[in-house]
Amino acid sequence: MILIKTKKEIDYIKESCSIVAETLRLLKANVKPGIKTSELAQIADDYIQSNGGKSAFKGYSQGGDSIDYPGAICISVDSEVVHGIPGERVLRNGEIVSVDVGVEKKGYFGDAALTVPVGEISEEKKKLLEVTQQSLYKGIDEAVAGNPLHNISAAVQEYVEKNGFSVVRDLCGHGVGKYLHEAPSIPNYGRKGTGVKLKSGMTIAIEPMVNAGTYRVKVEPDGWTVVTTDGMPSAHFEHTILITNGKPEILTA
Ligand code: MF3
Ligand code: CO
Repeated sequence: MILIKTKKEIDYIKESCSIVAETLRLLKANVKPGIKTSELAQIADDYIQSNGGKSAFKGYSQGGDSIDYPGAICISVDSEVVHGIPGERVLRNGEIVSVDVGVEKKGYFGDAALTVPVGEISEEKKKLLEVTQQSLYKGIDEAVAGNPLHNISAAVQEYVEKNGFSVVRDLCGHGVGKYLHEAPSIPNYGRKGTGVKLKSGMTIAIEPMVNAGTYRVKVEPDGWTVVTTDGMPSAHFEHTILITNGKPEILTA
């Protein structure tokens, strides 16, 4: 069931989303060659907690026999697609790093991610970042009440593939707000005109994961880190948005 949020719920979701947005801004300012991913996670966790929030990821269970997610945020470098666990890895010039932040406050959630360059990066990686971010906005443009859900998916896929990259199939965007992950699941590929009808008051996270090479991914032995099977780089951008009868409202901007 897709939840329709009340005005009051939306206000709470907005509060969590603004902490997410500020945390991402802070992380972006701190990404540089030589910093450890655990240091970035600490900066994020401190900021979230000092604003009355809590990491929505730490302790998250994906079922099965993998460990609960141990980090405050997800940090995924180069061929890591998403769900990288912060640790001793030191960022190096020329890498790209995705930072993904989820916050819970007063029982409501916000979720967003972006990918940033570490120092100077190649032209190919610059294009990958631009295309992935643009594909998110192509998806957001379709997130209007009355539109079928997969218009979002089709818009993302079309833009990415037109630019010579591929969309990950195994992971999707999702409803968000009362829980971190709610219905509907929002694939980054699909056919225009299909899927449930979007309604005003839905809050969703759209999150294209775009690979420079094959769309195929696998999970590392840590049970969480998703990597490209060909070792080529991947980028990830995500926003939580509110569906309205007009332009969608980006809550994590
Ligand atoms: N933004 C990601 C998602 O929506 C991050 C989830 S990490 C997890 O799936 F640990 F919470 F799973
Ligand atoms: Co998400």
